[in-house]
Order: sequence, then structure tokens, then C-alpha cells
Amino acid sequence: MQIFRTVGELQVYLSAQKERKIAFIPTMGALHQGHLDLIRAAQKEDSQALSVCSIFVNPTQFGDPKDLEKYPRTEQVDADLLAAIGCEVLFLPSVAEVYPANWATPTFDFGDLATTMEGASRIGHFAGVGQVVHRLLSIVKPDYLYLGQKDYQQVAVIKDMVYRQLGWAHIKVVMVATAREADGLAMSSRNVRLSPTGRAAAAGISQTLFAARELSKHAPTPLAVQQFVIDEYKKLGFDVDYVALVDATSLAPISAWPQQKNNAVCCVVVKIDGVRLLDNVML
Ligand code: PAF
Repeated sequence: MQIFRTVGELQVYLSAQKERKIAFIPTMGALHQGHLDLIRAAQKEDSQALSVCSIFVNPTQFGDPKDLEKYPRTEQVDADLLAAIGCEVLFLPSVAEVYPANWATPTFDFGDLATTMEGASRIGHFAGVGQVVHRLLSIVKPDYLYLGQKDYQQVAVIKDMVYRQLGWAHIKVVMVATAREADGLAMSSRNVRLSPTGRAAAAGISQTLFAARELSKHAPTPLAVQQFVIDEYKKLGFDVDYVALVDATSLAPISAWPQQKNNAVCCVVVKIDGVRLLDNVML
């Protein structure tokens, strides 16, 4: 695996590979199977494409500087994991490389996409995500961009930026299904912070979502499904941050079932042992 730390060196290498398509997987490191699934999905979709993964803990998407400081940095372990599954290029830029003094970030307006759900409690978070993903796409110039479904709202925001706001139709944004533990818990670097009891209970997050997906096939309204999920989580003793039934593209709350299947998504956040856990399921 080739490792580059500067934009210049990366671009020289990429321009020598001109005949190959580029599959890009942006991450903030602390990699787990969910991230590796993105690389695997890229390799499966186009085995000829050059896989480029970036690890950059982006300061502009953190509201609290303490969260930025505490964010796990496991560069060597991450690099070994990536090399072992055949990732070809790892880009490890510094803050100065990503945000040089002469770089002017365009302003993106995500509207309600960025103010609901995660955006409601993390002011400025999606503006930061948009800024860094735009910059990384401008550097790497990929043909494919791989993102995980666990951060469903992030995928919706990035698609809005890439397609509606930038008109970069040549990039195929691919959303990869959430990687799950054997009991269904969505993989996350936060799971290790759960107590043994909390970890056992956390399986209820996705199990309830899967039951909600079944219920949605005959429930009269989205509200009935939302209430079911809230009631189940309360029974399980979770501290519910939100349970939202939203349109899969606009993320607007829905009060009636959409005409087309897979056009609604149930996004949830609960706290267990004080750890904030996200998950979602397409209905
Ligand atoms: O999901 C993440 O890890 C980050 O938000 C991303 C997309 C790499 C941007 O920093």
C-alpha cells in the first residue's frame, strides 16, 4: 500500500494511474469492520478501480474541542488493517494540507437536511463534513465515493452537495449497508465504551428497528411505527434522543407512507451508559 501525506505527492501518483478509475473511501480512522466493508464494497463493485482511503480527523466537524482531542488516533493499526485487505493508497494529510491558507471553501446550503436529527444537536457539524468532503473530492477526483449507511443523514447531505449543489454527476456515491455484530448491533468505535450489561441491552436498538420494518408493512401510519419504537426503547431502559421517520431523500418527517417502497427511513439515536448510539433502517 502506498502512503502519502501531502496533496502534491498523492496527485503525482494518481495522475500516473490515469487509465484507472478511482474509488475513494474517506474516514477519520479508528477503523473497524464497517470501514473495511467500504473498501470491500469498492473492490467488489469495480475490481479494476484504484482504492484510495483517507484518514483525517477533521477539526471543522467537531463542535466541542474536547471531542476532537479525545478522538481515537490509531494510525499504524489502521494502516495495517487497510494493507491486509488490499487497499492500494492511504492518504494521511495534516490539517495544513487539507486547509491551506489559499484554499477558499465554497459555501453549501443544506437547508433542513442539516438542521434535523444530528444537525439539531450538533450545530455546524454538517457544514464541516461538507467542507472536508468537498476538499478531499477536489484533491482525489474520484469516480466512486463510498459511505456507510449508519450515518444515513451524512450520506444524504453529501449526495445533496455532490449532485444538487456541485452537479458532479460523474461521481457515483455508493451507500454501503451498515456492518453489524452477530446480535445486530451496528458496528461503531463507541461500542467498546459500553458496560457488559449496556452492551447486551444495545442489541435491542437494531432488533427493535427490524421489528419496526416488519410492522411498517401493515401499520396504518408512520406515527404508529414511531410510537412502537419509542415504547420498546423505553421498555429496554434506553435514554431516547430521537426516533424519526423521514423521507429517504429530503429527510422531512413523514405523516403518511410514501408511494414507493424504500422511500422512508427510521433513524434513531439512544444513549446507553451515557454512550450515544446511532442506527437506522429503510422501511
Ligand atoms: O464519517 C466520517 O468518518 C466523516 O464524517 C467523514 C465522511 C470522513 C468526513 O470527515
